[in-house]
Amino acid sequence: MSERKPRVFATRHFPSDVEARLAASFDAVLNPEDRLFDSAALAGATRGCDAILCAAGDAMNAQAIASLPESVKMIATFSVGYEHIDVAAAAKRGILVSNTPDVLTDATADITMLCLLGAARRAHEGATMLRGHRWVGWSPTQLMGVHVTGKRLGILGMGRIGQAVADRARAFRMTIHYSNRSRLPPELEKGAIFHADGDGMLPHCDFLSINAPLTPATRKWVNRERIARLPKGAVVVNTARGGVVDDEALIAALKSGHLAAAGLDVFDGEPRIHQGYYDLENAFLLPHMGSATVETRNAMGFRALDNLEAYLLRGQTPPDQVRASS
Ligand code: DGY
Repeated sequence: MSERKPRVFATRHFPSDVEARLAASFDAVLNPEDRLFDSAALAGATRGCDAILCAAGDAMNAQAIASLPESVKMIATFSVGYEHIDVAAAAKRGILVSNTPDVLTDATADITMLCLLGAARRAHEGATMLRGHRWVGWSPTQLMGVHVTGKRLGILGMGRIGQAVADRARAFRMTIHYSNRSRLPPELEKGAIFHADGDGMLPHCDFLSINAPLTPATRKWVNRERIARLPKGAVVVNTARGGVVDDEALIAALKSGHLAAAGLDVFDGEPRIHQGYYDLENAFLLPHMGSATVETRNAMGFRALDNLEAYLLRGQTPPDQVRASS
């Protein structure tokens, strides 16, 4: 590595402690405007840069990667999900990619429970009624929702976040079912019921929580046929990626009453979400806030920096390098 500090371009506005460390370790090119770059602008902005610190939502697709200057050798994303980066295209260009696993597990599991409870207990309707000055007082039949304690929760994707959701749900005495590429060892499974076939799990789910990454295999996995396999009155929760759900199918089931409610923190095509969601009283909607705590966002930034520093300052393999097949 040369004497000069490696230059790192930050696509977004990151937490101030993260930007301070970025600036201390590197020749940082900050983007205080916090806006998404199109590929043409990205190519110009990264001229002379050794690496890019990007975030969920930045479209680092094949076209954007092809437009990058030769000098760019690494893309570190401030996220655990990396479906926004064409890792194969990056590898072809000799560009390493890293993500930020582990550090957002608890925050995302917490928001999963918020979505589950918010949907089941009609939090959106209650809060809207109160703030709209339409609450005329307690009534025996007002805003009756779906009971959570003791019900069955199916988790699609039992990785770190899925397991953390299961731990929280056990405090609600929920019976945990899960579907995953492989069965967990007993010490991680903790009595949860494994379904090798996700379709086979669905009839056992009073609640279905999506905690699987978006891949070709999970794209629109929650479709009309699978929703029909859920018991009537089930609740669907998604805090993973919007693309795992077929919006038309979910909206139709929420309208028909086959599903009692949905709690969603992520959306296909966000922030331009399907218009149908706005009219649904039984949809508890959040703007992709799963990892949005000060502690977690700092930890994500520091983890991304650990990776950048390993490679750019010490010539080591980034600890969280992701590969096209992983
Ligand atoms: C991630 O890290 O993938 C999250 O969705 C961002 O909060």
